[in-house]
Amino acid sequence: MGMRKSRAVSSRRTIRDFSRFVSRFKARFYARYRMQIIMRERGGIRFQDHKGRSYINCHCNGGVFNLGHQNPVIRQALEEALRSGLDIGNHHLISDGRARLARELVVSTRSRKSWPPSGLAKCVFGVSGGEAVDLAIKLARAYSGRDRIVSLRGGYHGHTGLAVASGDAAYREPFRSALPHFEQIDLEQLEHIEDQLDENTAAFILETVPATLGMPVITEQTMRHVRQVCDQKGVTLILDEIQTGLGRTGEFWAFQHYGILPDIMVTGKGLSGGIYPMAATLFSKKYENIFKGDPFIHISTFGGSEVGCAVSLAVLQIIQSPGFLETVRQRAQYFAGELQALVNTTDGPLIEVRQLGLFMGLVFSDHYTCLTMLKALLSNGIFTVYANNDKRVLQFLPPLILSANEAAEIVARLRQSLADLDSLRYRVLKKTLKVIGA
Ligand SMILES: Cc1ncc(COP(=O)(O)O)c(C=O)c1O
Repeated sequence: MGMRKSRAVSSRRTIRDFSRFVSRFKARFYARYRMQIIMRERGGIRFQDHKGRSYINCHCNGGVFNLGHQNPVIRQALEEALRSGLDIGNHHLISDGRARLARELVVSTRSRKSWPPSGLAKCVFGVSGGEAVDLAIKLARAYSGRDRIVSLRGGYHGHTGLAVASGDAAYREPFRSALPHFEQIDLEQLEHIEDQLDENTAAFILETVPATLGMPVITEQTMRHVRQVCDQKGVTLILDEIQTGLGRTGEFWAFQHYGILPDIMVTGKGLSGGIYPMAATLFSKKYENIFKGDPFIHISTFGGSEVGCAVSLAVLQIIQSPGFLETVRQRAQYFAGELQALVNTTDGPLIEVRQLGLFMGLVFSDHYTCLTMLKALLSNGIFTVYANNDKRVLQFLPPLILSANEAAEIVARLRQSLADLDSLRYRVLKKTLKVIGA
């Protein structure tokens, strides 16, 4: 896939304007860590920065670029939609695009392995993941008449009103956005979740694999237990599949690995095809009556934009195409073998690999080693980021479309980066990071 050229702009001017008009603190942060990267040409699994350095995108904005950059099928869908006269559409009216996309999404939740075998029933569109999470929480409360929302400490659901209230204190306290009735529990408490959910709990919200917490993969037994307890206590189980959904884990939705069905599921990021924002809240039939009295009590002007629906339908088509998920599983298997070999042979820095399909977390001995590795990877042309709520973990999400050769190239660069950690340059860097308390 060839690179698409963006218009050349002076990078010094961009950095200056970014600092002056967007955020001088972000600009300062990037300068301090010598991570000033302005994304320019992009295509397939790669992008280039303003200095012409090429990177393989192994973070993909948490799944936005699941299908790579500038995927030609997605581009074509957008161009065709525009050519055929579509635009945002009208969120008050009935829409072809929304009807079709909702149907496809609903059908995708049906799984042979899930119990009960039926999938989710309805779909409401939004623009961002946070917006979709907010609606999920509103539905759970409206349905149950209960207030309490329980979430996982270290989890992340976005920065909007209810989503940020269900996230970590670090993101809500500075904005005085804590809300009553929101409580967090630790990962270890999942096994005894019956002690945490009571008769005033409306919902338990969880990322199917908690990305920001460093991708700990929850066992099938625990996940089924969570489902069971939610059923027993009349608590809505909301699964956040904003990162884990859409083929990332080798199943269409990550919950399909577990043979369970959430009551409500949220998706976003990859649904955009990396080109047009789209998010959705899918829910089971029992929540439908919330809208009976007034079907307009929740709306989103741009949610389910008709050009966006065309893009998202193309995304779903690609994921559903024969062999797509099978190939994701094959690549995942390849990484599993290679990464485990690196853990076994490197004796130190890389201590564990967490993985569900191509949703991978590389755990390092401590967070300075992880930061140093991040820099070594950048130097070797791999772009990734650490998990904000466990900075020992690098989030490793290569595009799902990568070829076997590209997977081998990533592994070779990883191996090289691990070897580089022993060099004087990176030993000094690690010390410096420690001294400045990065
Ligand atoms: C698991 C998860 N949930 C929710 C969100 C929020 O999505 P958005 O930034 O589109 O509001 C994110 C974004 O990173 C996420 O990773």
